[in-house]
Amino acid sequence: MDLFDKITKNWGPLGKWSRMGHGYFFFPKLEGKISNKMTFKGEEMLVWSTNNYLGLADHPEVRKADADAAAEYGMASPMGSRMMSGNTDLHEQLDSELSDFVGKEKTILLNYGYQGMVSAIDCLVDRHDVIVYDSESHACIVDGVRLHQGKRFVFPHNNIEKLENQLKRAKVITDETKGGILVITEGVFGMAGDLSKLKEITALKSKYNFRLFVDDAHGFGTMGKTGAGTGEHCGVQDLIDIYFGTFAKAMASIGAFISSEADIIGFLRYNSRSQIYAKSLPLPLVVGALKRLELLRTKPELKESLWKITNALQSGFKKEGFDLGDTESCVTPVYISGALNEASNLLVDLRQNHKIFCSIVVYPVVPKDTIMLRVIPTAIHTLENVEYTVAAFKTVKKNLDAGQYAKQEMGVGVTADKV
Ligand SMILES: Cc1ncc(COP(=O)(O)O)c(C=O)c1O
Repeated sequence: MDLFDKITKNWGPLGKWSRMGHGYFFFPKLEGKISNKMTFKGEEMLVWSTNNYLGLADHPEVRKADADAAAEYGMASPMGSRMMSGNTDLHEQLDSELSDFVGKEKTILLNYGYQGMVSAIDCLVDRHDVIVYDSESHACIVDGVRLHQGKRFVFPHNNIEKLENQLKRAKVITDETKGGILVITEGVFGMAGDLSKLKEITALKSKYNFRLFVDDAHGFGTMGKTGAGTGEHCGVQDLIDIYFGTFAKAMASIGAFISSEADIIGFLRYNSRSQIYAKSLPLPLVVGALKRLELLRTKPELKESLWKITNALQSGFKKEGFDLGDTESCVTPVYISGALNEASNLLVDLRQNHKIFCSIVVYPVVPKDTIMLRVIPTAIHTLENVEYTVAAFKTVKKNLDAGQYAKQEMGVGVTADKV
């Protein structure tokens, strides 16, 4: 069989829908300034699908800092990886300010969170070590674990009893191999918005002698009194051994970081392949991240606005009887029962008739016949936006319950773009 023939015949679980939904359900183009209102297919939409939690994407100070830094340094500088020729005082300043912000000794910047995470997991463990990780971990954790040459055990999502069982199995192995145990989880689970049980997990540390690595992509900047993340929120930040945050969400940029003890970060600097073998983060992104971090520190009102909108949205949905699962973060999943064609038609109705743009998550990410509408509030939404959205959701839910969407073919009224 020719490799390309096989690929051409099967574009995979999402790709198989591309002819029906390219440019609409997948790869939609949201145009205009990143805000609560953006344009989709020529129509203004109320947007609930960007992780611009604190509204920094179009904040005037941020835009100015980004533009000034791009004018001063260009996008090329510095050239080379940090190890070879791409290190600067500003990169080191950002390392250091991030360490202070999350309360760790040292920090290593990463060009992309996904790649950095994969690479960090790869280099922290060898074949004598055992990884134990949550079953609902982000792809960057799963893919990092796939590179691991030793044993790995997964525990059912947030199930502490099962985690302990896996730790017992891990300990038997590491007693034999003289290796260590690394537990990996997310802080805020990005899909469903629930939190890792960090208090319970860290309580097991003394018994099983493991190190804890937390991916806090959605918690950094949004959770905790100072915005230092889910560890701060749960009162266990000091017990997280390795803390990961990305600039792609609350910071509204690109780049990421890992913070830990000085020795561990030193080790990562000299061994993490995603950073050694890739060009250093361009200076405008570094300067832009310094400005964003300054705003995180000095403008607590941004996080307050985010939570004001989050609380209004979540209590509005709950009052109307919507199931929001176990979210304790800003990520707001609205669970509805329905088949795939009903899910897609409900989304089309929301977009075309109510001018609301949110994301939809279907099987296999959620169980069969469950629809998750993933609604992401930000500091720049208004209470009117919330009220309007809850009312619109109530209307589409009524239509769903009346069987209106089941009667229609999947994606009726959608004209797909050419892939
Ligand atoms: C939980 C989680 N981890 C890691 C990442 C990857 O971050 P980045 O966008 O910086 O690659 C994401 C972003 O999608 C995420 O949601």
